[in-house]
This record gives sequence, structure tokens and C-alpha cells, in this order.
Amino acid sequence: MTRIPLLIDTDPGQDDAIALLLAAASPELELLGVTTVAGNVPLALTTLNARKVLELAGRRDLPVCAGADRPLDVPLVTAEHVHGDTGLDGVDLPAPTLPVDPRHAADFIVQVLRERAPGTVTLCPLGPLTNIALALRRAPDVAARIRRIVLMGGGFFEGGNVTPAAEFNLYVDPQAAHEVFTSGVPITMAPLDVTHQALTRADRIAAIRALGSRAGDAVAAWMDFYERYDEQKYGQDGAPLHDPCVIAWLLAPELFQGRDCNVRIEVQSPLTRGMSVIDWWGATGLPANAQVLRHLDADGFFALLTERLGRL
Ligand code: BDR
Ligand code: CA
Repeated sequence: MTRIPLLIDTDPGQDDAIALLLAAASPELELLGVTTVAGNVPLALTTLNARKVLELAGRRDLPVCAGADRPLDVPLVTAEHVHGDTGLDGVDLPAPTLPVDPRHAADFIVQVLRERAPGTVTLCPLGPLTNIALALRRAPDVAARIRRIVLMGGGFFEGGNVTPAAEFNLYVDPQAAHEVFTSGVPITMAPLDVTHQALTRADRIAAIRALGSRAGDAVAAWMDFYERYDEQKYGQDGAPLHDPCVIAWLLAPELFQGRDCNVRIEVQSPLTRGMSVIDWWGATGLPANAQVLRHLDADGFFALLTERLGRL
């Protein structure tokens, strides 16, 4: 089997953690390392959390590199109100012994892209795009070596989740998002329009808990915790499992439907800061720069996730 080499850039976050476990459990993927960024919680916590999750997945072999502790040119905004003070509230995982790699995330990303054959490595950002933009600033030549960026971020038909206009990851670092979306690298984006279909219903959580494993118990407990915020906010059964959609698309793109569109990121207006302006109907005639996912086979998605978690 030819495996897909990938780097995950993340700000765990319960849904980031579940995405990491899904990737670690999937033999089709060759996870080359994990980089961390400030987002849901500050960088020290996202780095600690990534190490805890990789140990839970039995992947002590992977480098974990810490990156940006703040966005490029605005103050950091975090989301403890969603994820809890630790970022991973819901489960107490043991303190990790997996060390932090001394390389900066952006340098590590550049190094991997230069070491690997051009056009082979996929980048999967699950948080604000600061580290990806920094890597492209430090080494513009590596843009042409990236196979694809598959990211969670944005929203258009669903609106935003941190302001009426903006989704959290793009809101936190709009300038970084703008630089990534204008980089010329092929992009697939999983915006709120698709992730709001990946809802953690009670029966889906029960199926994961029934795995009876440490990973299954942790994921079920995270989902229970995570749900309390979104259920209250949206009045629906279950919370959206945003970040695992990125990994699921790599594994089973047939679960998703979308189209190629022009996407621009608002960097000037305070009212719509970080908004992803998706030209779904081709109104501008501007060239497409991203594949925008919009529909999900949610039952297929949860069947895949549950089956993979059962391998850990
Ligand atoms: C995104 O923001 C974070 O809260 C989640 O981890 C996800 O990456 C959803 O807007
Ligand atoms: Ca995230």
C-alpha cells in the first residue's frame, strides 16, 4: 500500500485530539510529525496535549515541534469556554514523557518538505494557520513542494462560530489564513458548512464507548464534555466534530461532496475579520483556489472513525 505522507499542525482541543487518534490509527497514512500552534488554548498547553494524545495512540516515535505562540499580527484569542481550561477537559491523561522536539514547527515543516520528494507531503492544519504561513514566509520555495493543504477552517452558508461572520481558526489569525489561501498551494477546506454535519449523537458516542478500550473511553468522554457547549448553543443533539473531517477526507473522500471555488479571507474589516468569502456560485469569475467541502455522509464518517479507533 502506498501511504500518504502527512504533517498535522494542531491546537488540541478535543476534536484535534480525535483527529490525531484517527490519523495514528489509519494504515493508509504516514504521519511524519506533529506541530503545535496557539489557538484553542495557549501554546504550552496545545504542545502538552499533543504529546499526551500521541502517547495514548502509542506513537512515541513521532516528533512534536512547538511553533507560534501567537498570531502573526493580532493578539491571541483562545477558546477555553469551549474546550475547558486545559483544552482537553473531559479526560485526565497522564503527564507525557515524549519529549518536545527542539525545532520550531515552521523550520520542521520546511525541513520535511525539502527532504521528501516534491509533491508528496500533505499538510493538515487543524488550528490557526500561523505555522503554515511562517513556513511559507521563511522558505517560499517549499510552496511548490506541498502536495496539498487540507484544513479545517472557514464557513459560509453556516456563518461563523466565533463571530457571526468568522470561524475560529481563520478568525484567530486572518493574515496567516490570507497568506495560505493566496500561496498557490492546492487547498481542500472543511468549513463549518460540512463539519456541522458531523454531530456526536448519543448513539454514536455509545458505539465508541462500547469499544471498551482506553482510546475509545477517552474519545467518548471528550465527546460528552465537548457536547455541553454546542448543544446549549445550537440546540441540537450532539456537537460538531470539526477537525477529524480533515483526516476522514484523506481516508475516504467519497464521504464528502463539494466544489472548487475562489476563496478570499477578510483581513481589514473589524466586523467581518477572518471571514472566508467563498464564491460558491462563481459570481466573481476569479479562479478557484480551494476545494470547498459542503456535504458529509455523517453515518459513514462515524462508522469509519469508530472502526479506526477500534484498532488502537
Ligand atoms: C475549530 O476551532 C476549534 O475550536 C476546533 O478545534 C476547530 O479546529 C472549529 O471552529
Ligand atoms: Ca483545532
